[in-house]
Amino acid sequence: MDNNYYSNISVLIDEKTLNKRIQELGEEISRDYEGHELKMICILKGSVLFMSELAKRITVPVLFDFMQVSSYGSGTSSSGSVKIRKDLDEDIAGQDVLIVEDIIDSGNTLYKLTPILKGRNPKTLKVVSLLDKPERREVPFKADYRGFEIPDEFVVGFGLDYDQKYRNLPYIGVLHL
Ligand code: IMP
Ligand code: MG
Repeated sequence: MDNNYYSNISVLIDEKTLNKRIQELGEEISRDYEGHELKMICILKGSVLFMSELAKRITVPVLFDFMQVSSYGSGTSSSGSVKIRKDLDEDIAGQDVLIVEDIIDSGNTLYKLTPILKGRNPKTLKVVSLLDKPERREVPFKADYRGFEIPDEFVVGFGLDYDQKYRNLPYIGVLHL
């Protein structure tokens, strides 16, 4: 085992702070969707831990689906495109849909993905993101619900990876390369 695995990570948001904020988000979302059934769409793989923790704190009926996308290109808004690597299992027409994302960085992924999902005629479509790095935005995108605004640092843990590693950390840490 690599002894340096954790030595270059400093804690940015600890487990207790994450849980407290996710609890608040769960309560807010539960109030907003009172009387409705919510389809939560987890954007794989980074959002798996956030989706799990958030869903446990939502009190309206919830359905899960999963999607994996990769975004290519950056810079101008027109050059970025999104490729669907794994599509949803079920139709979302007529449903109240909440996209669950780990982090909004350039904004390209959600800027491209939301119109695609809107085209499938959900009744409503909103986005919750655990983290937001507004300084990095290349295209305009604002989440409906947001956990934390963070500075322009590369973060790992709580689902987020560097080269597929560190997803299991129970906190959000800054990776110093
Ligand atoms: P966007 O399309 O640039 O907004 O990027 C969104 C995706 O990039 C996220 O869903 C993450 O998978 C990845 N990403 C962006 N910033 C970070 C980071 O600091 N750590 C880990 N992954 C990140
Ligand atoms: Mg992601």
